[in-house]
Amino acid sequence: MSLAKQLQVKPSSGASYPIFIGTDILKNFSKLFYKYNSKSKKILFVSNSVISAKYLKSITSSFKKKIPYYFVSIPAGEKNKNLYQVNKILDLLTKENFNRQDTVVALGGGVIGDISGFAASIFKRGISFVQIPTTLLSQVDSSVGGKTGVNNKYGKNLIGTFYQPKFVLIDTLTLKSLPKREMVSGFAEILKYSLIMNKPFFAWLNSHGKNIINRSSSKDIINAIFISCKSKAIIVAKDEKEQGIRAILNFGHTLGHALESHLKYSKKLNHGEAIIIGMRIACKISHQLGFLTSRELDMIKNIYEKLNLTASIKPYVKSNQISQFIEIMKKDKKNNNNYINLILLKQIGKAFIYKTQVEKTYLPILKEEIRNG
Ligand code: NAD
Ligand code: GLY
Repeated sequence: MSLAKQLQVKPSSGASYPIFIGTDILKNFSKLFYKYNSKSKKILFVSNSVISAKYLKSITSSFKKKIPYYFVSIPAGEKNKNLYQVNKILDLLTKENFNRQDTVVALGGGVIGDISGFAASIFKRGISFVQIPTTLLSQVDSSVGGKTGVNNKYGKNLIGTFYQPKFVLIDTLTLKSLPKREMVSGFAEILKYSLIMNKPFFAWLNSHGKNIINRSSSKDIINAIFISCKSKAIIVAKDEKEQGIRAILNFGHTLGHALESHLKYSKKLNHGEAIIIGMRIACKISHQLGFLTSRELDMIKNIYEKLNLTASIKPYVKSNQISQFIEIMKKDKKNNNNYINLILLKQIGKAFIYKTQVEKTYLPILKEEIRNG
């Protein structure tokens, strides 16, 4: 099988599983399926009409012997990452009498991956699950590591489980049809890995980031996906259930998630765009508190400018909404009695957990950011 790259995720508490990364490798699906889900007799694909029209056929036609398969469509958008869509999947699985060995396959971005992983984890207390991520963001982050879940009216990802897939199949050919905006969004999480744990990767992104966002080098894209997945695998091997170090993967996310929730998951701002803002503010706080040097803060500002990463919070939160916004941040999962585990940087490539009160740390900077832009 000509798969460009492969790596193994070894979660601290469960079975290890492979990630395959390459170009034009969807056609290898059936071989992998029989290798890693040998007892499975049927498949449910969870996707949407746009993605399935482009990619489902390459996957299903890879089966020489026909296998029964079903399809559930989830409408695009973060707004649909909810229990209603989970229920659609559970209904189909029940109606068609799926058992635990049968398989749910997520074919789509992080929204589809998170919803279907959650449904797979609770159906009959856990049915086989496979991820075929089709956005850059899901290829470098959400398809790996086993976090699944949905939003409710109180906030992002508040309902969910840890549930690992049997394997992850990443085909960079799927990125061809992705809007440019979604490439930038995925780049946010790639940049995150460099900032929290890998300074040489930050330097590499400084010179190769444009090639990734503009899709002008598949070699660079594959390399960035590989390093990102490897970084996540290292963290998940140490702390699958986020009892400690895994929290550093939430760099920029406390503010980012609050922004998505504040905007009611509207298309005005997607996940990666919110994280771009959240990471920049977290870098600024790291500097103000005396951890990150001015020189390194400037290096981060430079990469933001060079790659046109739009990072102002001003268009999204009005000054009279700041206290309401702070209340949303307090509902974050990482919050405990108003104290939050905020992720800050000591240096580029070295993140740490800083326990603080949301108001104390965020109120002054939000006022400043929203006043000045
Ligand atoms: P998304 O799933 O909403 O996909 C973005 C858009 O791209 C959608 O409109 C989708 O239909 C479209 N799309 C997907 N693949 C396409 C393709 N190949 N060609 C054309 N269009 C395509 O967004 P996302 O950025 O992939 O994921 C964001 C979600 O992931 C958020 O809900 C976030 O909370 C979650 N997330 C989860 C984890 C985790 O560990 N589970 C980590 C990071 C993010
Ligand atoms: N995206 C954060 C995590 O997977 O832990």
